[in-house]
Amino acid sequence: MSAVWAEGPAARGGHLYGVGVGPGSPDLLTLRAARLVATADVVAYHAGRRGSSQARRIVDEAGLLRADVVEEELVYPVTTGTSGHEAGYYGALAEFYDACAERLATHLDAGRSVVVLALGDPLFYGSFMYVHDALRPHHPVTVVPGVTAVAAVTAAAGTNLCLHEDTLTVLPGTLPTAELARRLADTDAAVVLKLGRTFPAVREALRQAGVLARAVYVEHASTPRERVLQVTEVDEAEVPYLSMVVVPGQDRRADAAGRAWVEEQHADSPPSPRAGAAPGTVHVVGLGPGGAGWTTPETTRLLERVAHVVGYAPYLARVPQRPGLTRHASGNTVELDRARLALDLARAGEDVAVVSGGDPGVFGMAAAVLELPPTRGTPPCRSASTPASPPPTRPRPGSGRCSGATTHSSTSPTTSSRSRCSWTGSWRWPSGTSSWPATTPGRAAAPTPSVPCVTGWSSASVPTAPSWWLGTSAGTESRWR
Ligand SMILES: C[S@@+](CC[C@H](N)C(=O)[O-])C[C@H]1O[C@@H](n2cnc3c(N)ncnc32)[C@H](O)[C@@H]1O
Repeated sequence: MSAVWAEGPAARGGHLYGVGVGPGSPDLLTLRAARLVATADVVAYHAGRRGSSQARRIVDEAGLLRADVVEEELVYPVTTGTSGHEAGYYGALAEFYDACAERLATHLDAGRSVVVLALGDPLFYGSFMYVHDALRPHHPVTVVPGVTAVAAVTAAAGTNLCLHEDTLTVLPGTLPTAELARRLADTDAAVVLKLGRTFPAVREALRQAGVLARAVYVEHASTPRERVLQVTEVDEAEVPYLSMVVVPGQDRRADAAGRAWVEEQHADSPPSPRAGAAPGTVHVVGLGPGGAGWTTPETTRLLERVAHVVGYAPYLARVPQRPGLTRHASGNTVELDRARLALDLARAGEDVAVVSGGDPGVFGMAAAVLELPPTRGTPPCRSASTPASPPPTRPRPGSGRCSGATTHSSTSPTTSSRSRCSWTGSWRWPSGTSSWPATTPGRAAAPTPSVPCVTGWSSASVPTAPSWWLGTSAGTESRWR
């Protein structure tokens, strides 16, 4: 039997069971669930306003509802995000769940066993959890896991879900489209639940994330009404609530630090240049210290047109997703891998933004891009931090901000004072440049002729408000990346 939660001597009366009844087919009920339903004094279930409970149907079809069992139908007052309740949708639901808990407590106080049926698994987006929270301080509770609809849907789709280092993201289709798209773009495999009216927005998010072509739609999994379609083929007017989208994983492989993946995918076989494509550009940009309001318009515009963004995952998460944008998120100790990937992509003709929080020149990614050691004949762009000729674009106001940074100490292995202070303006390597300019006294040394720079692609820095500005003025903790 599963663990029983009851909080101390306050526990009293009958026993509460949260019982998962599986995704739809009665023969996907577990033996434990069947036994408890068949012997309970009270069987409770949530139902829509039209009085339909899939969970009740399942146990009824399995022949588990005794004639003398007490049934408690808990009918939702609202089923969509709107309600006439003064505290809104969630206020109406909170009131409803309190009322449900009170009804069930009456039975428990009288010493009756109460089974609350849950479609799939009770603790996975199940309404059981709300009565669970209300009743477990006072009554013994046992949770019986069930076969979740995710498993039934992937089985129906006949698709592998996650292999090796694939990550799986579970998403409610009720999230805003942009948020869905971002999360879909940042994962390998995904399932999107709670469809129905949300379906058009979910399909748009799949498109923006670039995963629409491999997304599979399944409705009424494991039942005679089961249907499996490519998402692109679904009629959005006919999508029921009991449906899901599954995006199969990619069989990603990596070592525990996430390094091997970058090395494996890009070191041995860097992206090959598209035939006839001119080399692209690496832009090193700073997102500012916090919300979108701290990102400069210049950075925002740039992020709207590059084909790839590369960066530490929490910062990359701040970049909105859109069609055609490929994201390359990584952990926080792989700056050189990120830089190498960006340069390889640019060499293959892609325009890339390498993002940092705050300013990229202040303990950010600029140093990693500029100081990358040469590998595989890839032009290193090290020492490129200061072109010998004056920057083609005027240094911005605030170019003295770097001196503020030098008053902070940091052990960042990828940032030197040289590069820190060389990124206070914005400049673009002149197109058509075929070799590094001669060293300017006091500036970084240019690469030797034996390490040539690729003609025509450049690095451009877009400075922005560094994190430490906010840290100083708002008293928040400084962040150094
Ligand atoms: C509130 S969640 C409940 C999930 C459930 N507790 C579980 O473990 O599967 C309801 C969502 O689950 C998904 N779902 C449940 N049963 C399904 C089925 N048989 N086929 C497809 N999707 C299903 C749908 O996305 C639906 O909107």
